[in-house]
Amino acid sequence: MRVTCIVGARPNFMKVAPILAAMRAYPALVARLVHTGQHYDERMSTLFFRELGLPQPDAYLGVGSGSHAVQTARVMELFDAELDQHPADVVLVVGDVNSTIACALVAAKRNILVAHVEAGLRSRDRRMPEEINRILTDQISDYLFTSERSALENLTAEGIDAARVRFVGNVMIDTLVTHRAAAGTRTVVGDLGYQSKQYALITLHRPSNVDTPEAAANTVAAIEAVAARLPVIIPLHPRTSGKLQQFDLLGRVTALPGARVVEPQGYLDFLCLMDNAALVFTDSGGIQEETTALGVPCLTFRDSTERPITVTEGTNVLLGTEAAAVPAAVDAALKGRTGARIPEYWDGKASERIVSILVAGAS
Ligand code: UD1
Repeated sequence: MRVTCIVGARPNFMKVAPILAAMRAYPALVARLVHTGQHYDERMSTLFFRELGLPQPDAYLGVGSGSHAVQTARVMELFDAELDQHPADVVLVVGDVNSTIACALVAAKRNILVAHVEAGLRSRDRRMPEEINRILTDQISDYLFTSERSALENLTAEGIDAARVRFVGNVMIDTLVTHRAAAGTRTVVGDLGYQSKQYALITLHRPSNVDTPEAAANTVAAIEAVAARLPVIIPLHPRTSGKLQQFDLLGRVTALPGARVVEPQGYLDFLCLMDNAALVFTDSGGIQEETTALGVPCLTFRDSTERPITVTEGTNVLLGTEAAAVPAAVDAALKGRTGARIPEYWDGKASERIVSILVAGAS
């Protein structure tokens, strides 16, 4: 069986790494790794390959940045040619980025089986590009691997046959379990001048929070409100730094007392920063899950989440996007939450479950 695995953007690397590792246990399974090049900077891509032990991609499509249509179309054209050269029996995609839907669509039109890892998550906000990518990828996938049980309800409500859906757990947590001890030896917290459990870690990059002057100003006000309560570390995503510069807001953030604005961090340093944070303030999808696995309080600066289990069982609080609500939420979060637990099957073995299902399907 030939399985082509796709990575494109930063949140894909930590999801595909454990799946490729699990595939090595099956000599009859020939894995190929294709990097679309949606993310291309050292700190958004290359560093993750080194740290996660990912093999060099067998093919690099080099699509780069562009509008959604342009980026998606470039991936489709180049991945189609890649499949001409290197046919596959299964194309495996993860998550919800533009590379995910682009490659799934190319494969489905070629009658190649599509496996979608992290299927069935729904924010119910179609203004999010990721929500469109999730809905469409799931519709054309043959294997839908879910990370929480609520996903099955979402999928069946959209008419997807439950027989295609398999609850396997969370592959991103596989990677976290593998690397947590190594991350614990990193010195990044002290190097930045902070102490464990005495700072908030902030990451914000959703278009809805940074792409317009109004949204970006509101996001800066929220950062100021967190920084008024405790010291903050802000690894800045390129989208956010670009927009804050464009709207002349970056200086307001860098001037905050007790705040450090730093470059995007590698996987191990970021995991170390999360594990030692008193609080994480974010609009990321994956970080809601990682903080739940680590037991670190998380405030999500969004109006919706596609990962409800992080709220019902984990440490996540869905805050909304009113900067005025931040001070009270930070105070409550710092008191900690009792009764939070690690969700079912977030146990480091999701990738093994996925690969054994794929292998059984081929026999
Ligand atoms: C993408 C994903 C988002 C994910 C995020 C993680 C989609 C629709 N969105 O958003 O779900 O949470 O990745 O990072 O796929 N840029 C660089 N260097 C890079 C990559 C991007 O400077 O290596 C800059 C470019 O100016 C680019 C902008 O960041 O235009 C946005 O990149 P893009 O891939 O379009 O979307 P993200 O915001 O990164």
